[in-house]
Amino acid sequence: MTNSTLKTILQHRSIRKFTSTEIDEQALTLILQAACNGSTMGNMQLYSIIVTKDKEKMKEMAPLHFNQPIATNAPAILTFVADFNRFNKYCEYRGAETDAYSNLQSYHWAVIDAIIAAQNACVAAESLGLGICWLGTITFNADKFIEALKLPKHTVPVACIAIGYPDEQPELTDKLPLETLVHYETYNDYTKESIDWLYADKEAHENTKKLLEENNLPNLARIFTERRYKKADNEHYAKVLENVMKEQGFY
Ligand SMILES: Cc1cc2nc3c(=O)[nH]c(=O)nc-3n(C[C@H](O)[C@H](O)[C@H](O)COP(=O)(O)O)c2cc1C
Repeated sequence: MTNSTLKTILQHRSIRKFTSTEIDEQALTLILQAACNGSTMGNMQLYSIIVTKDKEKMKEMAPLHFNQPIATNAPAILTFVADFNRFNKYCEYRGAETDAYSNLQSYHWAVIDAIIAAQNACVAAESLGLGICWLGTITFNADKFIEALKLPKHTVPVACIAIGYPDEQPELTDKLPLETLVHYETYNDYTKESIDWLYADKEAHENTKKLLEENNLPNLARIFTERRYKKADNEHYAKVLENVMKEQGFY
């Protein structure tokens, strides 16, 4: 059993090389409409989307993306902002309470809304033959993106998607087996044996072996903790995020 929606989703792979073709305006509008038609907390639509197409603006923001080539080579970048600013203003101008949403719970809703919108945009883009790649750099440098994108209080940028016509067709990325990710009725916690089993394919993968050799490390877990996402960096960026949330009035 399949259909075109499932085919799109099951064929997803991140695209990091784009042709220089501009995104068709009609396609972009459909992608943005799809983004804005997802489920949303209380139908408040707690997100905004910033479209960046201007190459100068992309160059200005490149260092915030740690100079990843796609951050400047993509024809467009969509930044999804968890946004209570608009709804707070609505409350203010209608004489409703104005600080009901200055808290972590409200931030949580807005992040969920923004991520739903972002993923809807991704699926819509892929269904139209475009490629996408998330840029997690927004989660490290939210403070600097707030400045670059002139984001007001009660907004935090949470997702960034590079988008364009693919100039590569990479293999599908290896994923953990479905049965290890899905639990029925209650959470079935992992034993050492089940962890061994569920990571076996990933650890045996050619790419992993290459990575271990290059990094002179014995396993993939240590690539993560010692190379990719290190404790000291995570703790530093957690503080940045905490400050952002305070500055933006959510905490
Ligand atoms: C929150 C998030 C941040 C990501 N950040 C980056 C990034 O900064 N650069 C990049 O090349 N890929 C990034 N990715 C893409 C992931 O590396 C990719 O989704 C993952 O390896 C699985 O591969 P696939 O998307 O091809 O299935 C990010 C993905 C997510 C969801």
